[in-house]
Amino acid sequence: MGEFPDWPLFRLLRDPDGALDLHLPAHGRGRGLAPALRSLLRRPPGSWDLPELPAFGGPLEAEGAVAEAQAACAALLGAERCWFGVNGASGLLQAALLALAPPGSRVLLPRNLHRSLLHACVLGRIEPLLFDLPFDPINGLWLPPSPAHLERVLAAAAPLAPVAVVLLDPTYQGLAADLPALVALIHAHGGSGLPVLVDQAHGDGSALAAGADLVVLSLQKAGGGLAQSAALLAQGTRFDGNGLERSLLWLQTSSPSALLLASTAAALAHGRSDAGQRQRLRAVRRARELRQRLEGLGFPLVANQDPLRLVLATGALGIRGGEADGWLLRRGVVAELPEPGALTFCLGLAPPAALERRLPRALLDLRRHLGGTPLPPFAPPPLPLLAAPELEVGLAWRSPAESVGLPQAVGRIAAEPLCPYPPGIPLLIPGERIDGPRAAWLEAQRALWPGQIADTVKVVARMAGPGTSG
Ligand SMILES: Cc1ncc(COP(=O)(O)O)c(C=O)c1O
Repeated sequence: MGEFPDWPLFRLLRDPDGALDLHLPAHGRGRGLAPALRSLLRRPPGSWDLPELPAFGGPLEAEGAVAEAQAACAALLGAERCWFGVNGASGLLQAALLALAPPGSRVLLPRNLHRSLLHACVLGRIEPLLFDLPFDPINGLWLPPSPAHLERVLAAAAPLAPVAVVLLDPTYQGLAADLPALVALIHAHGGSGLPVLVDQAHGDGSALAAGADLVVLSLQKAGGGLAQSAALLAQGTRFDGNGLERSLLWLQTSSPSALLLASTAAALAHGRSDAGQRQRLRAVRRARELRQRLEGLGFPLVANQDPLRLVLATGALGIRGGEADGWLLRRGVVAELPEPGALTFCLGLAPPAALERRLPRALLDLRRHLGGTPLPPFAPPPLPLLAAPELEVGLAWRSPAESVGLPQAVGRIAAEPLCPYPPGIPLLIPGERIDGPRAAWLEAQRALWPGQIADTVKVVARMAGPGTSG
């Protein structure tokens, strides 16, 4: 006790609060940590915090223990190359995008992109071509694109000559696309095809078997690793390997944490081992039984493809996701992702022992206290199939800006993203011109994301002088 300053930072880390934790990391306060990592953490504290000694090396060294572990993980996952990352999926997505798209080029990005990809566009002066997605008005969720939808996107984008496509699979809520069909379409596009980067932060690397060129994993979201441990997997010849290593050099620390590198290796190896498969199966079995029980009690759950993501359709209960989250939080149930019409619980690889006892009871209470007539359908964002910011993202973001109310923002260019977090998906991107329907939709979003969207928006300041506008 005495060795800790009496700050909340240490108190929160030291004292478990007895909550039912249904949030990430997926190891659930260590219960589901990969066994090799767990044993490492039992060693004398700090003894494992090694620098890039010659025998140890680092992610960009051709030789050494890290290189060997990366090669072993590539083989386990069916990739040709694997790089470990210590700045989450965020850092590796950025490195991958910078490697695929030179400055001034265009890339196709889904509207539900993670904000790290937007930041990569700024860093690399890449123009994002944002493609719209199907929308579920009942739950207010973006859905994965169908092959027919993606075909329309590719046709619309053809005259703009994008150099790469990013897909997200599965989504935060565990919704999966027909990835082999999507990748095949992109690889056939225009005859020679385009490279595909799949953000599998919430997935397991299956995008490789679907043919993706580059795949990014976050080992704390779907594996038994610590936060910030991540992997980039690569195959084929549709990208420049040297360019990829160069952008990894630009974006990763020069002192990668040995603990996080070991965490990535341990989580990847455990996920493919018999013990890891059995652990997942046990968790999935419990998740399926819980799902059945909740459905038997009349709870609407979103149909998804990841059984360890339980998505309560709160809108159908007449409750906003954020409202449900706040109510449950006050009663010691901590969900992962509140959204306007849904609340996602991450059950993790070793769900808490009290899950089956506490969650149904808490949800029954929630429904009794806050439930009512279903919320009206959510309006889809009024966006074209394909949109590009009118002003370069980084220029808009760095421009002198002013804050105006949303009605006054009509016709102006956004200077900052509007990005509720989580999920970290921007609703507005710097450089986009805000039209009337968009301003009205964003105004409506304010009510749906309480406290997350201000009543003003930053727009690029008008320049003094004639003929200039912002
Ligand atoms: C779809 C998606 N991609 C990437 C990331 C970033 O992952 P990390 O937190 O490991 O950097 C997230 C984080 O929530 C995400 O949801």
